[in-house]
Amino acid sequence: MYDLIVIGGGPAGYLGAERAGHAGMKVCLFEKRSLGGVCLNEGCVPSKALLNSAKIYEHTIHGAPYGVIAENAKIDHKAVVARRGKVVKTLVSGVGMQMKGAKVEVVMEQATIKGRVPGGFKVEAAGKEYEATRLLICAGSVPVMPGIPGLREHYATGFVLTNREILELPEVPKELVIIGGGVIGLEMGAYYSVAGSHVTVIEMLDHIAGPTDGEIRTILQKEYEKRGITFLLGAKVTGVADGKVLCEKDGKPMEVPADKVLCSIGRRANFQELGLESIGVETNRMGIVTDACGRTNIENVYASGDINGHVMLAHTAYRESEVAVNTMLGKKDTMRYHANPSVIYTQPEVAMVGLTEEQAKEAGIDYEMKKLSMRYSGRFVAENEGADGLCKILVDKKHRNIIGVHMIGGYASEIIWGAAQMIENELRVKDAKEIIFPHPTVSEIIREVLWQFDD
Ligand code: NAI
Repeated sequence: MYDLIVIGGGPAGYLGAERAGHAGMKVCLFEKRSLGGVCLNEGCVPSKALLNSAKIYEHTIHGAPYGVIAENAKIDHKAVVARRGKVVKTLVSGVGMQMKGAKVEVVMEQATIKGRVPGGFKVEAAGKEYEATRLLICAGSVPVMPGIPGLREHYATGFVLTNREILELPEVPKELVIIGGGVIGLEMGAYYSVAGSHVTVIEMLDHIAGPTDGEIRTILQKEYEKRGITFLLGAKVTGVADGKVLCEKDGKPMEVPADKVLCSIGRRANFQELGLESIGVETNRMGIVTDACGRTNIENVYASGDINGHVMLAHTAYRESEVAVNTMLGKKDTMRYHANPSVIYTQPEVAMVGLTEEQAKEAGIDYEMKKLSMRYSGRFVAENEGADGLCKILVDKKHRNIIGVHMIGGYASEIIWGAAQMIENELRVKDAKEIIFPHPTVSEIIREVLWQFDD
């Protein structure tokens, strides 16, 4: 009997298995497709490989103001896609090594929970039974594909794509229509618009980028409009037909021509075929119900990552699994979500942590906001000819602690963890002002904004 069976080998699963293995548990991990899950194989990592090629290309063609002249630069999309494959392969084999290092037994099969056995649970995979005292369920999420007429039919023909297929398209589509202006839509729109597609984003809300700070998402939209992306906001998709997407905007029907359609309207927890009912694990509309320690309603059964429907970010999944494994080991640990950074890896990057102004208002928090252009950072000016960006900080008016940091501009993704630390540690403005930032770095913009506040 194993001490722990982990179902799913994405960030939540492999990290949980690794931590448990290193803590001395006998662990078996099941993965039906590829170690690394969606994040590593068809999400976070390969999309960054594509976006980095777009960034290099854009730097090259806009090199003249920096004294760099490169003629005839072009994107070789096939080479970009091939490199993405290489990056994924390297990292997937890295996860395999990590599992070996933690003495985790990996079974590359689909696992189903089959019920209880004395002292634990029974799991079946490829006709074989396995038993463990504990379960950690990390089966992730799948793309939402609603019943819009023609959508699913055209997914079957390859005209409609999800995050999986868009990363390995052999050709750049002339007209790419993206349904959903959230993170996946924006990141993929960013790559394909640079690679040569005319991109149209159809979004049902009146803004892109979901709960991102209102001012920052407007800057991002304008930036991408300048580069030729068309945004149809407040638009309802009514159907998908050969070579077009049908939608309705301001009560008027529209037809948007398409060579390919990306459906990126969110993801949902993947908990239907796990056999949860065999042991009575509670689920709700969002996914498996867990407490702040990753425990489900069944003793010794834990769940972490997208499957719990809380946040659906890989870095959150890592931490949720650490909390779950610590709880198994009897170490006190709980999940906190208020200082959970998130990033949109467009060019410019958007990074945020904590509350937006909209959220602070809604929560009735009396806050003070200060902001500065990124051009207050010497490093930003030296490296970003003609470009701008923004850093915005929210402080609780009474307690003087930092409650939100929002940035748009280069390096934002690499800076935001520091801001998360400030929020997590409930740093007050006065204390945060004493932090020494390396100079010259774009991160100094945070210090500059902090000094706009009174103590
Ligand atoms: P999302 O939830 O970020 O965005 C979906 C968008 O589609 C929303 O703006 C929504 O209003 C819109 N929408 C929904 N139904 C629609 C309809 N019928 N017509 C038009 N618009 C519609 O979901 P997305 O982009 O699919 O990403 C899925 C998950 O993957 C997210 O939870 C995200 O956290 C994660 N992810 C994170 C990334 C990152 O951290 N950089 C990158 C990619 C994905």
